[in-house]
Amino acid sequence: MDILARNKRLEELDKAFLWYPFTQMKEWIEDTPVIIEEARDCFIKDIYGRWYLDGVSSLWVNVHGHNHKDINERLKAQIDRLAHSTLLGLSNVPAIELAHRLVKLLSDNLPVDAASLNKVFYSDNGSTAVEVALKMAFGYWRHRGVATRDSFICLNNAYHGDTIGAVSVGGVDIFHALYAPLLFKVHKSPSPYCYRCELGLSRDDCEMQCLKEMESILSARSQEIAAVIVEPMIQAAGGMIVFPDGFLSSVRDLCHRYDTLLIADEVAAGFGRTGRMFACQHEDVIPDIICLSKGLTGGYMPLAATVASQRIFNAFLGDFKELKTLFHGHSYTGNPLGCACALACLDVFEKEDTIASLQPKVGFLTRWLKDVANKHPHVGQARGIGLMAGVELVRDRSSRAAYDYGQKVGWQVALKARQRGVFIRPLGNVIVIMPPLAINIDNLNTMLSIIEEAIVEVTDKAVD
Ligand SMILES: Cc1ncc(COP(=O)(O)O)c(C=O)c1O
Repeated sequence: MDILARNKRLEELDKAFLWYPFTQMKEWIEDTPVIIEEARDCFIKDIYGRWYLDGVSSLWVNVHGHNHKDINERLKAQIDRLAHSTLLGLSNVPAIELAHRLVKLLSDNLPVDAASLNKVFYSDNGSTAVEVALKMAFGYWRHRGVATRDSFICLNNAYHGDTIGAVSVGGVDIFHALYAPLLFKVHKSPSPYCYRCELGLSRDDCEMQCLKEMESILSARSQEIAAVIVEPMIQAAGGMIVFPDGFLSSVRDLCHRYDTLLIADEVAAGFGRTGRMFACQHEDVIPDIICLSKGLTGGYMPLAATVASQRIFNAFLGDFKELKTLFHGHSYTGNPLGCACALACLDVFEKEDTIASLQPKVGFLTRWLKDVANKHPHVGQARGIGLMAGVELVRDRSSRAAYDYGQKVGWQVALKARQRGVFIRPLGNVIVIMPPLAINIDNLNTMLSIIEEAIVEVTDKAVD
């Protein structure tokens, strides 16, 4: 079969048999899919041989670039020894080594003591990492005889994944509202989305009233709250909403004051994305439970870790018949291939000094964000932390009026960027910028210039 016939067939099979995540399939099947079959460094290549800069790190997971020699070799070596063996009743070498390495990494980067964040529970993705964290927090109180703590505090605009527990603590209406009847009860606290403050206040003099709202929930219901869950420093899928300084550490203080647990969901922000190894480092926050995934394997294998403190772990200890076991686990929990990739990924962080070499790129991106916000009349706000940014497009800058969802302005920008060789994926009207941390300045510059051109082209034409 010649290459064109093969490609045609793949396109037909794609439309006939695949159902895509977060995709309106009616539109997908009317369009021609871009099918990727190769990747190198920060580029992905489609079946027609067109290369694209991977502006979203293949959905925020790729850290060191694609097809990294060291990670490839580690994966190949592991596959020749052991592809999978269960953690239900057995252990395996990479799972042990990675747990040790993660605990050390946390203690090297956060001001933790030996009993904080030292128990690693594996699962397969960010959503399950969150499910596990919620069950750990809930179980912690139950096993200590506190039956009243059956609820959580989360933030509006939060996104913690798509399984039902994670959706329960989510706050992005367009994704979550449909499932409301299925969700457990939570208390929603205002999002620190200062550009569109839901309390109608201005950051200049608000004194972070949003935290006071959280405090009033805690003070009225301290005996009901099992944990507060947040995405530290930046609400990612909610629109790249960067916390004001001091917000995260104040949430930590509130959790201490009202004696509840703090779950930090670093699924998106962890592993260097915010310019530090962990986002909690920005404010020296030590959560009781931390959720890690995405960058953990450098974008190679689905793996997640929920890391809890000794005190939470201890609450699950007891006689067999007491039923205090954490009854949770997945077929692929602690998968050796995933753990081997994660170990290789952490080695590359050290070998390539990834966090230090990131800093000039963060500076470059930060300057660009400032510049586009000043230059373009339809850029409402351009915000970010580390190599994780969003450009919020607006119909009218002075009133901050948003484009209608149905106008698909963000999608049009993504399409124009793709036609110029950059793959990005928006969040509504927010253009997301999340290249692999390994991207070099030249490629970053190319990517940002193309995105800027696409923004100008689309917003110049978008009708009010
Ligand atoms: C903060 C956060 N938590 C959890 C998740 C869910 O991760 P996954 O898509 O791997 O289930 C995401 C995904 O974007 C996320 O950004």
